[in-house]
Amino acid sequence: MNILLLGSGGREHALAWKIAQSNKVEKLYIAPGNAGTCRVGENVDIKATDFPRLKAFALEKGVDMVVVGPEDPLVQGIYDTFAEDEATKHIAVIGPTRSGAKLEGSKDFAKGFMLRHGIPTARHLSVTRDNLQEGMDFLATLSAPYVLKADGLCAGKGVLILPTLEEARRELEEMLGGMFGDASATVLIEEYLSGIECSVFVLTDGRHYQVLPVAKDYKRVGEGDTGLNTGGMGSVTPVPFADEVFMQKVRARIIEPTVNGLHEEGILYKGFIFLGLMNVGGEPYVIEYNVRMGDPETESVMLRLKSDLVDLLEGVRDGNLDQHPVEEDPRAAACVMLVSGGYPEAYEKGKVMTGLDEAEATGSILFHAGTAQKDGQTVTSGGRVLAVCSYGATKEEALAQSYRAAELIQFDKKYCRRDIGFDL
Ligand code: AMP
Ligand code: GLY
Repeated sequence: MNILLLGSGGREHALAWKIAQSNKVEKLYIAPGNAGTCRVGENVDIKATDFPRLKAFALEKGVDMVVVGPEDPLVQGIYDTFAEDEATKHIAVIGPTRSGAKLEGSKDFAKGFMLRHGIPTARHLSVTRDNLQEGMDFLATLSAPYVLKADGLCAGKGVLILPTLEEARRELEEMLGGMFGDASATVLIEEYLSGIECSVFVLTDGRHYQVLPVAKDYKRVGEGDTGLNTGGMGSVTPVPFADEVFMQKVRARIIEPTVNGLHEEGILYKGFIFLGLMNVGGEPYVIEYNVRMGDPETESVMLRLKSDLVDLLEGVRDGNLDQHPVEEDPRAAACVMLVSGGYPEAYEKGKVMTGLDEAEATGSILFHAGTAQKDGQTVTSGGRVLAVCSYGATKEEALAQSYRAAELIQFDKKYCRRDIGFDL
């Protein structure tokens, strides 16, 4: 079949790499793709949210399936757009409907959904300018640190964790005053959950589900999880504490009520569900839902997915995912992100990169995130530049291999965290 994958980051290169290994695939297109995806498929210069052009392209090329990497097209309703058009309704879109994408697009909706279905999550209050005083009073009932979240999409920047009540009160007013535009017209005040996080990826056809390898990502720019939040500095899989006992709780308390809850509420959902979980003393709580795969978790998770991804996606399309088991590679996998010095604040682009072939020759797999081709050379074109991914018998071995390969790659002001996996 012919597949059109949407997106342009490291996650999409990893998905493209995995999809291209399937013998079910004839042509793989990536829109818009990047300098890595064009090595495993054909890049198409169309934005992932330009639905009219994506539809025209899909029809022209006989695309059978659209796989959506990032959240924006899902929240904007790409599933519905294809399904409601006579000309494109035969094309399977892997992802939720617009109403299902609200699990990520509106944190207020996600919280309401969890409450309706008894899914464990932090206590919260949703606040607008109309009940600001109630919000101030609720804050006073919590203890530090204080968690404030913008309701809408903020490119991963809409969560503030504040050490004092005074700061929390001030920031609450700022957020409601438009700190994140419309996205923070509603703000969630949440109880702080203390524990260790992991990312659980579920594929669902709307009735059945399969769980992909569990991963942990590292979001802060500095070692020891310090400094500013980023789009992700690395990931590892598996996660030792996500053992059978923990995962049984996750399935019974979170995944099954989520899949069944969506069905009961009449929300059509055929795609990935990303559960951001907090392990609080062995008990799983949902920190957030995302309606897509995670970045940079996908870069390590795809290494450990032994099953044919396209076969799984066919199960999603056909509604018989229960007959498409997930097989995991017993090895560990790790991803170390090479980023541009200065990121996530100001950084320079256009730096010539060397050593990529040498790094790959050591056995690591490179997924491009922010690179471009210029005059026959690979240059940096973003903050997060390259995901250096490796297998190992243990996560320590996988990480050591990624760091060895990372040493061979050079570009001016290259930076990476040296402590990925430190807390596991
Ligand atoms: P989110 O954008 O919802 O993933 O939040 C960003 C990060 O903030 C999460 O990955 C957690 O590390 C942290 N966080 C969010 N909500 C809470 C909470 N209720 N308690 C503790 N940490 C939280
Ligand atoms: N790794 C977190 C995310 O993709 O949102």
